[in-house]
Amino acid sequence: MPSSPTHVSPTPAVQLESVRKVYQSGDDEVVALGHASLTVASDEIVALVGPSGSGKTTLLSIAGGLLRASDGTVLVGGEDITTYDQKQLTKFRGNNVGFVFQAVNLVPFLTATENLTVVAEMNGRGGSAAKQRAHALLEQLGLGHRKRNLPDQLSGGERQRVAIGRALMNEPGLVLFDEPTSALDSKLGVQVMELIRSEIKGRQTAAIIVTHDTRMTEFADRTVEIADGELLPT
Ligand SMILES: Nc1ncnc2c1ncn2[C@@H]1O[C@H](COP(=O)(O)OP(=O)(O)OP(=O)(O)O)[C@@H](O)[C@H]1O
Ligand SMILES: [Mg+2]
Repeated sequence: MPSSPTHVSPTPAVQLESVRKVYQSGDDEVVALGHASLTVASDEIVALVGPSGSGKTTLLSIAGGLLRASDGTVLVGGEDITTYDQKQLTKFRGNNVGFVFQAVNLVPFLTATENLTVVAEMNGRGGSAAKQRAHALLEQLGLGHRKRNLPDQLSGGERQRVAIGRALMNEPGLVLFDEPTSALDSKLGVQVMELIRSEIKGRQTAAIIVTHDTRMTEFADRTVEIADGELLPT
């Protein structure tokens, strides 16, 4: 009998190795990330917590290829994205990463459904399957009755839920959430975290979730703390 392979660990979703980010602000330099190293497994949910200004959004933006590191290595799905040019990065993000930004930015002239289907269309996966998935996600997010609304006809929490649906639309390998429940009351916050967890866990997807809310960290597999741009040992 051929011997079965021994356990092969899948490629991590994210590997940040000694990542540094220095912002230039006039004559001043702001060190937003020191030498941050973080590995997120392919099916892991990591909560990232830390005070305002500690570097959380900076770390997420670098992990998702929205922002370039000043130094260090960024591997996403085993690919070194620090070598990519802008065009490669744009394509890479569209296919591999979902974002839910701190400031939700939906397309104002598209309905809730269209804000989801547009990301599928941009990656050549539009049509009725995309529409069905958009409707299913909006139902799960408790927005079944708001599918045809434009963003300015939605509450802040509803807009945030549309943004979560949009990030999950293309079934990316990595989803980055920046305070996804900050505009939701605690009951809805829990529901949304349950949805995020089931979507992530059902699809062998990884997620980094920035949150200030310790109740939300219960939905993560692991919590990582950041202070002054340094990840604290756990
Ligand atoms: N474009 C920029 N130019 C200069 N400094 C910046 C820039 N963006 C962020 N910073 C600074 O870098 C540090 C980290 O910012 P970051 O947005 O990552 O913090 P954060 O942990 O996400 O904070 P919050 O919880 O308030 O969202 C802060 O000191 C911030 O002022
Ligand atoms: Mg932030």
